[in-house]
Amino acid sequence: MVRWLHHRQHDYQLRAMSSDDLDSVLTLEEEAQRYPWSRADFDASLNSFHQCWVLQSDQHLVAYAITSTAADEADLLNITVARGYQRQGLGRLLLKAISQSFHSSIQTLFLEVRASNHGAIALYHQLNFNELGIRPNYYPAKKGREDAIIMGLSLCG
Ligand SMILES: CC(C)(COP(=O)(O)OP(=O)(O)OC[C@H]1O[C@@H](n2cnc3c(N)ncnc32)[C@H](O)[C@@H]1OP(=O)(O)O)[C@@H](O)C(=O)NCCC(=O)NCCS
Repeated sequence: MVRWLHHRQHDYQLRAMSSDDLDSVLTLEEEAQRYPWSRADFDASLNSFHQCWVLQSDQHLVAYAITSTAADEADLLNITVARGYQRQGLGRLLLKAISQSFHSSIQTLFLEVRASNHGAIALYHQLNFNELGIRPNYYPAKKGREDAIIMGLSLCG
């Protein structure tokens, strides 16, 4: 499925990620993420029932996201905007479009975010995610471990 999204005078194509995208995705992942996924992580998502999305402007990938669904819940497993395209509203655009793409049986979108990732947390608050809890020392960090904040967005109504 391909959707066209118009944002700040540009048209972006939202489509399913394929294995042909992985070289570009991995380049963006390593530039943008402090703890990047490996090719094997992306392969595993592509080869499972995860929803893997890319946002493309002309021929360039500018963002991507991966979700999984089970029963009436979805989990955001990865969302990344290319470094040179951050703070242009594309993370918000992508996350809103994904939230609208789920089957109507999906009632909540959950995610976990590093407590130090203030930019991402600000984005999630802006989209009305609520903080639901903390997993202490969940992530490896440069100095020891770091908490995960669990957040959820109600998709009902
Ligand atoms: C987090 C991320 C996806 C946000 O995407 P983005 O396209 O830069 O975010 P947007 O431009 O849509 O920002 C929407 C709002 O979120 C908040 N926000 C986003 N990045 C922010 C930052 N670095 N600092 C403070 N607030 C930020 C702001 O409120 C912003 O609105 P504003 O620009 O009008 O003030 C992007 O920074 C990224 O890919 N980071 C690296 C990977 C990552 O951390 N992913 C999330 C893991 S849980």
